[in-house]
Amino acid sequence: MSKVRLLSGESVPLEMHKVCMVQRIHLRPVEDRVRSIVEAGCNTFLLRNRDVFLDMLTDSGVNAMSSDQYAAMMQADDSYAGSETFYRLEAVLKDVFGMRYFLPAHQGRACENIISKVLVRPGTVALMNYHFTTTKAHITMMGGSIEEIVSDEGRRISSDLPFKGDVDIGKLKNAIARHGRDGIAFMRIEAGTNLIGGQPVSMANMREVSRICRDSGVPLVYDASLLADNLYFIKTRDAAYRDADMKSITREITSMMDIVYFSARKLGSARGGGMLVSDEGLFLKLRDLVPLFEGFLTYGGMSIREMEAMAVGIRETMDIDVISQTPIFVEALCNELAAKGVPVVTPPGGLGCHIDATEFCGHIPQAQYRAGALAAAAFIAGGVRGMERGTISEQRNDDGSERFAEMELLRLAIPKRVFTLSQIKYVADRIAWLHRNRGLIGGLEFMEEPKVLRFFFGKLRSVTDWPAILARKFREDFGDSL
Ligand code: F0G
Repeated sequence: MSKVRLLSGESVPLEMHKVCMVQRIHLRPVEDRVRSIVEAGCNTFLLRNRDVFLDMLTDSGVNAMSSDQYAAMMQADDSYAGSETFYRLEAVLKDVFGMRYFLPAHQGRACENIISKVLVRPGTVALMNYHFTTTKAHITMMGGSIEEIVSDEGRRISSDLPFKGDVDIGKLKNAIARHGRDGIAFMRIEAGTNLIGGQPVSMANMREVSRICRDSGVPLVYDASLLADNLYFIKTRDAAYRDADMKSITREITSMMDIVYFSARKLGSARGGGMLVSDEGLFLKLRDLVPLFEGFLTYGGMSIREMEAMAVGIRETMDIDVISQTPIFVEALCNELAAKGVPVVTPPGGLGCHIDATEFCGHIPQAQYRAGALAAAAFIAGGVRGMERGTISEQRNDDGSERFAEMELLRLAIPKRVFTLSQIKYVADRIAWLHRNRGLIGGLEFMEEPKVLRFFFGKLRSVTDWPAILARKFREDFGDSL
């Protein structure tokens, strides 16, 4: 993916791939969209794909694969133990990450389960630039807690800081002094920090965090699920790395870490996950749990075909033209929305475009889940399935009271190489229409609320019949257009 300049002077993203296989999708009439979202408990996780036009829920497991990945799947060597596929994958990962041991797991949260079981003791704290939902759930399930020490700028919606995912070094030193080595389970850096808008972490910051952790004996864990976007941003936003290749940037990062883990549903555009370590003692502790929770060490709960696809996908991640497609499309969507007055997280990050629901739907009380309401409204407006990343995605406090999210976001994920620029322009248009009519969007309340990770299965209803009113306005403005 590159940006090219047109004769008019306009700069546009240009795909560095051609489409070899396509899948039919459907744009249903607005009245059907209202029916679907109401039936889904106003929760975009509960929509059926047949009712969705553009699935921007996540990039997880839905990135487009290359023809080389599909070809590699055909040579899978299926075996419970000792498969050649494992050794091929292990060789790629050791080469790319420069670490000694690789442990497979079926996805990212499976790694979090194992790492938390090994490192978290009741009462300890895991420090991190910012939490991810599944990470926090595994740590708290082990009796630990989390402390987020991202830079203050990372918590602001708009900024021009290029690396908003950076750790606040003062807060890190303070936390180590307060908790002491024994009170800290580990320090975790999340690449392309998901919940604050896919914001990257700078190399200088990681270097500083690593030095402090090594000096104080705190294990440093790197969540590389969103590494691809972070690599792109290091290369394009840090002048010192302008000429560096992806592999040397990757190895510089991983050389600072004690454990690297990833979701291969994101990194490498396949389905799976894994952990890498260099320390033998740590490797042995993690290894003991892999057969218990995942499967034998040479497949770790993954399909062998996906492992072949992952090996090729990880190699392809080292190609800037492959990994730049998402961030360039995110930038295009954010810029188009911002130009139409829609409040988005800036600077544009990786993973997707993040819309600020607090600014968009400030008239909806936070207790009525404004980001969730915006997600439901965006589906009504355009058949676009985004994801609430706000209070619904939080866990309630121990006393049952609501924990309001610092940021109320609607994430429109851009899976790698899936959408075309005209689809992106369509999304921008429908969201801009919604913004003009934002006063019609109302709040939500829970009908069914699960205790853990409630955003997955929770069912909500609108507090008024605003979904139908919004659909009527759509008809007025767009006539019989879909
Ligand atoms: N870490 C990060 C930063 C993630 O974004 C995810 C998943 C995980 C860990 C867990 O990995 O899904 O393979 O178990 N993020 C997806 C998302 C679900 O939609 O952002 P997993």
